Amino acid sequence: MLYGADYNPDQWPEDIWPDDVALMREAGVTTVSLGIFSWSRIQPGPDEWDFAWLDRIIDLLHAGGIGVNLATATASAPPWMTAAHPDILAADENGAPYWHGSRQHHSPSSPTWRRLASELVRRLAERYGDHPGVVMWHVDNELGCHLNEEFSDSARDAFRRWLAGRYGSVEQLNDAWGTGFWSQRYASLEEVFPPRKAPFIRNPSQVLDFKRFMSDMWLEVYLMQRDIIRQAGATQPISTNMMGAFPPANYAQWAPHIDVITDDCYPDPLDPQRPLTTAFQRDLVRSLKRGTPWILMEQATDAVNWRPTNPSKKPGQLAAETAQSIGRGADGIMFFQWRQSRAGAEKFHSAMVPHAGTRTRTWNETVALGERLAELPALPAPGDDAPVALVFDWENWWAVEGEGHPTRLDYLQLVRDWHGALVRRGVMVDIVPPEKVDARYRLAIAPFLYLLRSSGADALRAFVAGGGVLAAGPFTDIVDDNDRFRDGGFLTQLGPVLGVAFEDFRALVPPARERIAERAGEEGSAADAAEDPRAYARFAGRVAGSGTIVAESVWADDAEVLATFETGPSAGRPALTRRAHGDGSAWYLATMPADLDGVLDALLDDAGVSGELDQVPAGVEVARRGDLLTLINHGDEAVEVTAPGTVLGSENPFGTRTLDPQGFAFVRAVR
Ligand code: GLA
Repeated sequence: MLYGADYNPDQWPEDIWPDDVALMREAGVTTVSLGIFSWSRIQPGPDEWDFAWLDRIIDLLHAGGIGVNLATATASAPPWMTAAHPDILAADENGAPYWHGSRQHHSPSSPTWRRLASELVRRLAERYGDHPGVVMWHVDNELGCHLNEEFSDSARDAFRRWLAGRYGSVEQLNDAWGTGFWSQRYASLEEVFPPRKAPFIRNPSQVLDFKRFMSDMWLEVYLMQRDIIRQAGATQPISTNMMGAFPPANYAQWAPHIDVITDDCYPDPLDPQRPLTTAFQRDLVRSLKRGTPWILMEQATDAVNWRPTNPSKKPGQLAAETAQSIGRGADGIMFFQWRQSRAGAEKFHSAMVPHAGTRTRTWNETVALGERLAELPALPAPGDDAPVALVFDWENWWAVEGEGHPTRLDYLQLVRDWHGALVRRGVMVDIVPPEKVDARYRLAIAPFLYLLRSSGADALRAFVAGGGVLAAGPFTDIVDDNDRFRDGGFLTQLGPVLGVAFEDFRALVPPARERIAERAGEEGSAADAAEDPRAYARFAGRVAGSGTIVAESVWADDAEVLATFETGPSAGRPALTRRAHGDGSAWYLATMPADLDGVLDALLDDAGVSGELDQVPAGVEVARRGDLLTLINHGDEAVEVTAPGTVLGSENPFGTRTLDPQGFAFVRAVR
């Protein structure tokens, strides 16, 4: 188990360094991420290099038994570079540059920046690639964090090249982007720009491609640095720290290129759903490389300083959040940062060593946590055996929230709603793109999968044919990869397996809810004669309620209607359908149930999936990795939990025990 933090010794006089190492040992620190923002110290001028301080601190840490996760230091370009090479600067949607004085002001597309960054990374890798103290490489930092999109001339040129690679010719681009609309037809790729500021809704296909392009630019920065490190002969694992469900970076595409998934997570203390929101993030990053552990590369020991107000964590919350990460697959727990900065933009951000020193709750909690982690026996690898796949797809995220749609959606929250309902039941779930839905799952839920690639549709159809239970919809299977309607209407790919045909979206204006009744109205169901009354009876009493966001009008041509709309624009039409198919079944939701519980119970029942515990008390989370159960009480009251198995590291049965608020336990499950 790695334990440690970002370490920025270049912010401090050198005589503090030995104290740092001594305190690190006291806190149980095994590893630090070093030099993330050190470019201007390593290369103070275009032709000046200073590695001596870095040699000294790496040697000192190594002598103290602390491993170094060495950063490539490219996350903030030095001021001399801006002055000498203004073409490295990123630009906003007006084309106005971002200047130095903060961080990440460079364009990832800039050839000059790439050349200078390559030189830095090459020197670092050649110098430290075989240093026994360097255990891992930390490429850049949170790629794209502040520059989700940037519109500089470098971006423009790179975008044109990227488009040439994707489409081959301007005719193909015109077709893909539907430029017949609003006089947007291009005569040459040289006329194409990034989607800079425009008077009204911008071409959605162009916007979508630009998001793909930005994700690819940051990935190219990672790949460039990774290749340089490898060419220098370094053999340590290479990673770059992710940010969970971070909109601009399609991590599902990045993951195969990254040796170890590392993630930064800063739970919002004011988020009423906090433990569920963070559980989603842990499951998402675990699912990027199913069956392998990941590293929590950054969390805060206490308050952050970058939200409008920054309250402290509750006593014990830090340990509980750490347990959640471990329970959901983490094999490393790291912080931003080791020693609280005394100057600069983050001086109010918490750290392992607060500015007030070691006579602090934060220091005591981090030392206690280090001790607790050090006592843990070797943990099983996260199993690749979650029974449920929740489909979450970045390209769809970009497209489904586009402008000019029937209604505005918060896709991430809608997917999280499903995830939260599963977590509350103690059901383990992977969060994957549709292509990753395969026979290892028993249930797949695909909400709001507006952009459905044909490869994804193939996987979902094969999943049902192979005996899986699929729940799709609403607002699903609407556009192709370029955000164009497919020929032949909607649900063109999944309709046959769902047994449903699509008529219209019927957006609901929030907070409108339309009542759903169990099979109350039969109109619209041409399949009544074929209905299986036993199947209907199985789900009776569970699928009534109300629907939100859309009340679609669909035809259940070859599916059983489990519930119909009683009110609203689709009154009398199917709200929830099911088509049995071999051992599997395909369900369609023509609305987003306001309360997911009943429908989810019916789906889990249909798929034969149950939670990890017989009873999951309210506020308690249970997660499983291999045969290890992690039980956490996120509530404010003590609660009794019953679990099968023995307390980790002993022969004592867990039985029924009380978990205090923020209390947690690890249990070796008996299965
Ligand atoms: C991010 C960055 C760190 C630091 C923290 C503060 O995670 O990677 O450098 O700015 O945020 O919370």
